[in-house]
Amino acid sequence: MAAAPPRRMHLATLLQPNGHHTAGWRHPDAELGGDHGFELYRKLAQTAERGRFDVLFLADAVGLRERETVEQLSRSPITVNLEPLGLLSALSVVTSRIGLAATASTTYNEPYHVARKFATLDHLSGGRAGWNVVTSFTDGEARNFNREHHPDHASRYSRAREFVAVVRGLWDSWDDDAFVRDKHTGRYFDPAGLHVLDHRGEHFSVRGPLNLARSPQGHPVIFQAGSSDDGIGLAAATADAVYVAAQTLEEAQTYYARLKLEVAALGRAPDAVKILPGIQPFIGRTEKEAQEKHRALLDLIHPDAGLGILSTLIGVDMSAYPLDGLVPDLPVTESHRSRQKLLLDLARRHKLTVRQLYGHVCNGAGHHTVTGTPVQIADRLQHWFENGAADGFNILPPWLPGGLDDFVDYVIPELQRRGLFRREYEGRTLRDHLGLQRPVRSHA
Ligand SMILES: Cc1cc2nc3c(=O)[nH]c(=O)nc-3n(C[C@H](O)[C@H](O)[C@H](O)COP(=O)(O)O)c2cc1C
Repeated sequence: MAAAPPRRMHLATLLQPNGHHTAGWRHPDAELGGDHGFELYRKLAQTAERGRFDVLFLADAVGLRERETVEQLSRSPITVNLEPLGLLSALSVVTSRIGLAATASTTYNEPYHVARKFATLDHLSGGRAGWNVVTSFTDGEARNFNREHHPDHASRYSRAREFVAVVRGLWDSWDDDAFVRDKHTGRYFDPAGLHVLDHRGEHFSVRGPLNLARSPQGHPVIFQAGSSDDGIGLAAATADAVYVAAQTLEEAQTYYARLKLEVAALGRAPDAVKILPGIQPFIGRTEKEAQEKHRALLDLIHPDAGLGILSTLIGVDMSAYPLDGLVPDLPVTESHRSRQKLLLDLARRHKLTVRQLYGHVCNGAGHHTVTGTPVQIADRLQHWFENGAADGFNILPPWLPGGLDDFVDYVIPELQRRGLFRREYEGRTLRDHLGLQRPVRSHA
């Protein structure tokens, strides 16, 4: 019997042109102004493709964060970005293999639009599209869509489940070979290959069919990143790949074990869902150099930016407290109970000042940071990969383009030498890269 092929990592990268770290845009080598043009994105996408990443990913929100003052917001660039589907369509032209994924909210969209846009990207890119399903965060987004408040968690997820089912149904509107385009007989499509969805549910009434052919992947890849019980439930039922923020190996292992169990309990193969914890790497020629790079960015977090983000996460205006005083005991607020408790417990345990606590949250936004030489970083990734914590990683370069260049030039070759990552793309579609099957049309 032939030996099973070695298990290989999957790598995604989140392209935030100003870097993942709150102060990434202030790094001396950060290229500014590229966030509203094409050139920087083109360069980043081509670098990621040169690194043989499975997929590049664009996050998105449909409004500004609303808890912060304008003064606080004005200190960080992550409040503005291009509309991602338009941008990915452009990137599909200057890349040929890397997957192209973006966030679209199920709370502030209609399924028909989302199904159509991602199927279009899948056609344009030859089967490289991925949709990151989110339910969105804030009242700031709600107010752009005829509402005063963001709907509560349970109703958002109830809508999200039905939303994904409708999108999938629409993607199956046509048999793969429905469009016969026979000049001779004058038949453009085979009537038997058309399937009208006719969905009527709690949240949506959608007749269908989708007005474009089944796309190269059948279904674009579905990503998900919620980690509440509802979020995990949605991921177990519908996701092909999952992003997760885990600070420690133990947290990542716990999440990994739980999600794979829930996937199996629904009758899906555990390997049909790839789990990709986020990693923010600081790469140096020596460990000391990497630590200095990390330190330098921490020092560049403007206090207003730090306080604003911390206040948003804790749900309390933290600018009322001295920066270098210990984090005070705070009243529990209903809206942010779990996140607040997590951060306040952390502050108490480690006796953190307000400045140190915002340093913690602005440094990677809850994701794991690795600081070291390429060998040390590869060691950490290998350890997580081989110890039940990850099927791969979502790489979050702290600043760009240098943070991605360093990962591609120094860490990826080390992973390749160890046989942990592909040297060349073996397939054409994002599903091929992730080792996922192409879904059979569900009405069949
Ligand atoms: C890597 C990563 C990327 C995310 N990207 C987005 C995004 O682009 N837009 C968004 O609204 N939420 C984003 N989220 C947030 C989650 O998808 C989710 O909405 C949030 O964690 C709250 O869901 P929960 O209550 O189920 O945890 C992201 C989360 C992670 C870990």
